[in-house]
Amino acid sequence: MKRLRRLRNNETIRSLIRETHLTTNDLIYPLFIKDGYKIKEEIPSMPEIFRLSIDMAIDEIKTLRNLGINAFLLFGVPNKKDLKCINIVNKALEEIKSEIKDAYLITDVCLCSYTEDGHCGITKDGIILNDESVELLSEISLSYAQSGADMIAPSDMMDGRVKKIRKTLDKNNFSDIPIMSYSAKFASSFYGPFRDAANSAPKFGDRKTYQLDIANKNEALREIALDIEEGADIVMIKPALSFLDIVEATKRTFNIPVAVYNVSGEYSMVKAAAQKGWIDEKEVVLETLTSMKRAGADIIITYHAKDVAKWLSYQ
Ligand code: PBG
Repeated sequence: MKRLRRLRNNETIRSLIRETHLTTNDLIYPLFIKDGYKIKEEIPSMPEIFRLSIDMAIDEIKTLRNLGINAFLLFGVPNKKDLKCINIVNKALEEIKSEIKDAYLITDVCLCSYTEDGHCGITKDGIILNDESVELLSEISLSYAQSGADMIAPSDMMDGRVKKIRKTLDKNNFSDIPIMSYSAKFASSFYGPFRDAANSAPKFGDRKTYQLDIANKNEALREIALDIEEGADIVMIKPALSFLDIVEATKRTFNIPVAVYNVSGEYSMVKAAAQKGWIDEKEVVLETLTSMKRAGADIIITYHAKDVAKWLSYQ
């Protein structure tokens, strides 16, 4: 008789046939950088995640490197809503690199934390100016590369930005800097806590004229195909949990590394339930992150990265 339970008898045989393995090599940790000194502000809607001044971010990076995580996604949180404040990230790149040369620094490229109205592109009379925004996004990307970024991650969802950024980087001798594109970024309700963290909620309207409709899978695959054609080295799907079917289809359709962003709302839901004692945080996080890998993700961007690294090292 066929008995599938034979291979579930004990942990040794279970681990011998285990198909998916989560390791610290898969993880990227997001960091929110603020101007100032010795600042470590907890984000109210994201327990244990902080806005950090550069000196404190350097300490945090050292801690994470000791836990086996060496890839970081940087977000700038400016004190003023001004496109000129984008250079907080340049400053962070330069200072972190001068202290920790081989920390792998990825920069999110978007305008929403810096524009007065909180939109991801420049607006005029309430309308997004796509091509002008792409121009600015490519200049910002180049300045990040010049400041030492190892990878550029555009998250704005403007049309044509990957092509323009690739061209600009290549023209300026940064042809070895990869682009990880937020290719299938959905107009999700799971970004709420991040918008608190980065103070980037749109002041009018929503992001539905540029982020994908949550109901659309074929359109997501068209976005991904286009980004690959324009030169994306890694494509990202965001959020992760409610879009694992897109991850699976992407991995099956395109022969390219896939990243998922386990976003702020996904993180905070787990944290809140864990704080109430309603779920086992460690087991729930390991299960959800493993499911992302099982669906086809190579890379997971997650606020849980630090906890996961600790749990994996004590297993
Ligand atoms: C910038 C950006 C956002 C996130 C990553 N980059 C916010 C948004 O699009 O509103 C969200 C990340 C998260 O929720 O953890 N555009």
